[in-house]
Amino acid sequence: MSTKIAPSILSADFSSLREEIEDVLEGGADYIHVDVMDGHFVPNITIGPLVLSAIRPVTDATLDVHLMIENPDRYIQDFIDAGADILTVHVEACTHLHRTIHMIKDAGVKPGVVINPATPVEMIKPIIKDVELVLFMTVNPGFGGQTFIPEVLDKVRKAVQWREELDLSFEIEVDGGVNEETAKQCVEAGVDVLVAGSAIFNQKDRASAIQKIRN
Ligand code: DX5
Ligand code: ZN
Repeated sequence: MSTKIAPSILSADFSSLREEIEDVLEGGADYIHVDVMDGHFVPNITIGPLVLSAIRPVTDATLDVHLMIENPDRYIQDFIDAGADILTVHVEACTHLHRTIHMIKDAGVKPGVVINPATPVEMIKPIIKDVELVLFMTVNPGFGGQTFIPEVLDKVRKAVQWREELDLSFEIEVDGGVNEETAKQCVEAGVDVLVAGSAIFNQKDRASAIQKIRN
């Protein structure tokens, strides 16, 4: 199966979000990655359910929503109502991770768990059989355009091993600093889905940017 590409709209031109999304989808994107930041869990503030619900009618493509917010339980229903297909929560932000993941699952949305670069991979082990996606941050979340942290790939390899041993089928995604060079290392480590923001939206020709990352 070929590697999926999920452009992060954080680096898109927000004054023409519809065209930006259509452009990357025509260019071969598989998912649209939506970065939600609250100014507490991460230092930046981005978008909320209102913008997600504006994007929803633009496409049938999978909306991969990455919640970088404190107390995500409070907003999960809002993001589900707004049209999320995948809803990913940080292990560092959830006091009752199992409950949160099951809230998402029970609502018929695909649950994902995301882990920061400095958090040990063992933190996600108890939940991996309940999720459909494991997202490894390859930068400290908060901003686009940061430098890839290669040590995270050891954690990716561990997740690949657990998935095999336990006969599970969750997808493995990485987010942060992905470009044509780092993408290669990720795929070699076993990554299924590559999130890329600046490496796609900062290029004029999005189809060729996506192609380069995929290759
Ligand atoms: C970082 C976000 C990423 C970000 C990636 O906190 O979660 O999705 O947009 O941007 P690049 O690809 O530019 O590192
Ligand atoms: Zn993200």
